[in-house]
Amino acid sequence: MKIRRITRFRTKVLLSIIPMILALCVLFGGMSLYQHNRLLHSEFVKRGKALADNLAASGELGVFSEDERLLNAALRGITGEEDVAYVFIYNDTGKRLIGGGKALVQSGLTSATETLNQEILTRILADRRPATRTITDAGAESFLEFYAPILSTEVRLVEEQYFGMPRSTRGPSENRSRVIGIARVGLSMRNMDAHSAYLIKLWAILSAVFLAGGALAAYALSRRITQPITRLTESAARMAEGQIDQKITVDSQDELGTLATTYNEMAKALARTLDERARVAIELRDLNRSLEDRIRERTSQLEETNRELMRASRHKSEFLANMSHELRTPLNAILGFTELIIDGVYGKIPDELRESIEDIHINGRHLLRLINDVLDLSKIEAGQMRLNLSECSIQSLIDSTISATRSLAAEKRLELVSRVETGLPPALGDSKRITQVLMNLVGNAIKFTPGGGSVTVTAKCVRSAKCEVRSATESSSDPAPRTPHHSDLIEIAVADTGIGIPTEELKSIFGEFRQVDSSITREYGGSGLGLSIAKRLVEMHEGSIWAESQVGKGSIFYFRIPLRTQ
Ligand SMILES: Nc1ncnc2c1ncn2[C@@H]1O[C@H](COP(=O)(O)OP(=O)(O)OP(=O)(O)O)[C@@H](O)[C@H]1O
Ligand SMILES: [Mg+2]
Repeated sequence: MKIRRITRFRTKVLLSIIPMILALCVLFGGMSLYQHNRLLHSEFVKRGKALADNLAASGELGVFSEDERLLNAALRGITGEEDVAYVFIYNDTGKRLIGGGKALVQSGLTSATETLNQEILTRILADRRPATRTITDAGAESFLEFYAPILSTEVRLVEEQYFGMPRSTRGPSENRSRVIGIARVGLSMRNMDAHSAYLIKLWAILSAVFLAGGALAAYALSRRITQPITRLTESAARMAEGQIDQKITVDSQDELGTLATTYNEMAKALARTLDERARVAIELRDLNRSLEDRIRERTSQLEETNRELMRASRHKSEFLANMSHELRTPLNAILGFTELIIDGVYGKIPDELRESIEDIHINGRHLLRLINDVLDLSKIEAGQMRLNLSECSIQSLIDSTISATRSLAAEKRLELVSRVETGLPPALGDSKRITQVLMNLVGNAIKFTPGGGSVTVTAKCVRSAKCEVRSATESSSDPAPRTPHHSDLIEIAVADTGIGIPTEELKSIFGEFRQVDSSITREYGGSGLGLSIAKRLVEMHEGSIWAESQVGKGSIFYFRIPLRTQ
């Protein structure tokens, strides 16, 4: 396909060069032919005119005397000339005085025997100037005829000769000579025509030779141009098929040679690039393989470590759960007995002993709370904590929390209030665990609020983001208790006017054993487990917990749990 296209290109070159050669041949050949013919013709005409003039001059005497001998003598000098076909001499009346020439012996040459054309006679007599005309004979031979007037110089009169007196009736130049006859020379155009024909033939042959030579040269040139291109195209096609290792032989120094050299360099560079790419690909594949192997190895190591960690964590949780359980039993016994001693079941106790026993009792309770917390946390982590779900009234849970912590608040002279939205629907949850969360938050609020402050517990129903707007408008226009929606949430907030929490600590306080400041902890006591347990419990209810706080102004702890009253 490509090769055919290149052949077409060669044909195009040929087709564009050959017409040019042809045009040049026709133009220059035709021009030189035309010039040559014109020159030939003008020379021919000059010669004819000269012959006619000669005849007129040499025949003057013969015509004047009408002597045949003289006329013949004048004729003889002309008839032998080349191309002279016939010669005639006429007197001034147009009568033929003598005639001769090769054409006269030919049979059927009617034009030659023709008498002098009357029109020409009249013209020559009138203006005494030579004339020319072309005639074609019936035998298809052409003649160019030349007419020359035979002038006779008049004898000057005596008065003219000696006294220089011109004749009064005639002009000065006029009548010095008069037309006494006409010389007619007919030149045959056969030779000239033959010469022209010969020239045309020569031109045609030369043109054909030149054309053939030109075509051959054009073919050779186009071959010279297209051959390297063909080689280049074939090589490029092979390269496209994947045989990158290509080389074209450079045998010229011109643009095509440069193109071929550049192509060779390009092929070399391409081969180099491909080699490099293949090498990099192999390296990359090896690297990938080793990377994959390493990743697999590391993944399995990680999985193994993970499994071990999970095992260890489970063991830890189990251990903690067991240990807490085991610790709780004797501790409960200690607390029970100390309570009995304090209550005087074993008799009256001395005052100095009472204080120590009360200390044992208080610290024992602290220890029990800590053990309970650790037990809860490890139960949650071990996945052993199960929620005891039931419909519970948030209002009553808050009320019981308030009443359980009232004495603590009163001790610190804190105002403890609750504001629960009227008509709050019951929530589906574990009342014991929700109370535990509430106790933690309210306990913290009391613990971290200096005397004279206040702690407020609020509860309200909120809707998920897309329903909230509707809920707000509803509540403002219609005060009647609304029907709970399945996407409703209970939001409980515990606000205090306490010491507050720095912003950067707000997130971390929900972690285990995290406390903001150990000096405060020392003052207020506690283990730093309350909020982390509360967070786990809220999350077990599919809820969320967060806090907002300003140092020195107070904190608000929020938690939301879904109603799920459906
Ligand atoms: N209402 C609050 N005002 C200021 N700081 C608070 C408040 N609630 C919690 N914090 C900070 O968060 C820390 C973590 O609270 P968390 O309830 O987990 O532990 P705790 O109260 O110190 O000990 P525990 O609750 O186990 O007896 C607290 O030590 C305290 O620094
Ligand atoms: Mg606490």
